[in-house]
Amino acid sequence: MQLEMMMMSNSKLFISFFLFFLFISFVSSSFSINSHICSPVQSHALLLFKQELFFTDHSIKYRYVNNICRDWLGSGYYPITMNWKTSIDCCNWDGVICNHLTGDVIDLDLSCGMLRGTIHPNSTLFHLPHLQRLNLAFNSFFPSQLPHEIVSFSTSLTHLNLSECGFTGQVPTSTTFLHKLVYLDLSHNYFDSRLEPRVLNNLLQNSTHLRHLSLDDVHIGLVLPAYFNITPTLKLLDLRSTGLQGK
Ligand SMILES: *[C@@H]1O[C@H](CO)[C@@H](O)[C@H](O)[C@H]1NC(C)=O
Ligand SMILES: *[C@@H]1O[C@H](CO)[C@@H](O)[C@H](O)[C@H]1NC(C)=O
Ligand SMILES: *[C@@H]1O[C@H](CO)[C@@H](O)[C@H](O)[C@H]1NC(C)=O
Repeated sequence: MQLEMMMMSNSKLFISFFLFFLFISFVSSSFSINSHICSPVQSHALLLFKQELFFTDHSIKYRYVNNICRDWLGSGYYPITMNWKTSIDCCNWDGVICNHLTGDVIDLDLSCGMLRGTIHPNSTLFHLPHLQRLNLAFNSFFPSQLPHEIVSFSTSLTHLNLSECGFTGQVPTSTTFLHKLVYLDLSHNYFDSRLEPRVLNNLLQNSTHLRHLSLDDVHIGLVLPAYFNITPTLKLLDLRSTGLQGK
């Protein structure tokens, strides 16, 4: 009888250990699932975007951007999409930050990324519906025009930095549909048509969150009206080399 009871408690002990190990392995496996959280659709969009582009070389065309970025980053200046591979979770790719709960890509900082090529309106860059910050500064997308599809970020984007990107053509009207923008830097591109007064007015007067607007080297060529209302959130407005006239 006693022996039987001992055997029973042993088997209970065994079962408890077994359940305990089962629990531990379940917990650790769910942690490893959690560390691989990038949205597959968004990771695919980024990989296609990578394939649309090339890396800058040492030719004279890219000398200015290459020199500046090498001064800033030293040996940290390399093609930023180099580690974008399916074998690595996209939240761990260089320049990519995800929301760790949802796996959505929320921040893409490809500044000084050694990237060149054309960004077409059908680019999968615009398939990132939760993107809050986009920095493409100091790459060479000449002669791309800034696509109207930028409007796909209208409900999410707060920071847009397109400084020194080589964009041509016109600043699209859709820029004014980015209602959440806090930082907008369009400086030093090759926009060859002047900024539409409607776009300028909208940015300056109707942006309810805008704090920092840099239009350095964007051709405006307007004569300012005598009185001009500016959105109260604006703290920094850079209008160097815009051809703006008036008092
Ligand atoms: C995107 O548009 C460009 C230019 O119009 C075209 O050459 C390219 O094939 C298109 N890519 C896709 C995936 O449709
Ligand atoms: C845009 O990016 C460039 C390069 O990183 C930086 O110098 C500049 O200050 C940025 N602009 C804004 C508005 O943050
Ligand atoms: C700015 O908003 C006002 C009223 O909200 C509107 O009348 C005006 O047309 C808007 N300005 C632009 C340039 O869209």
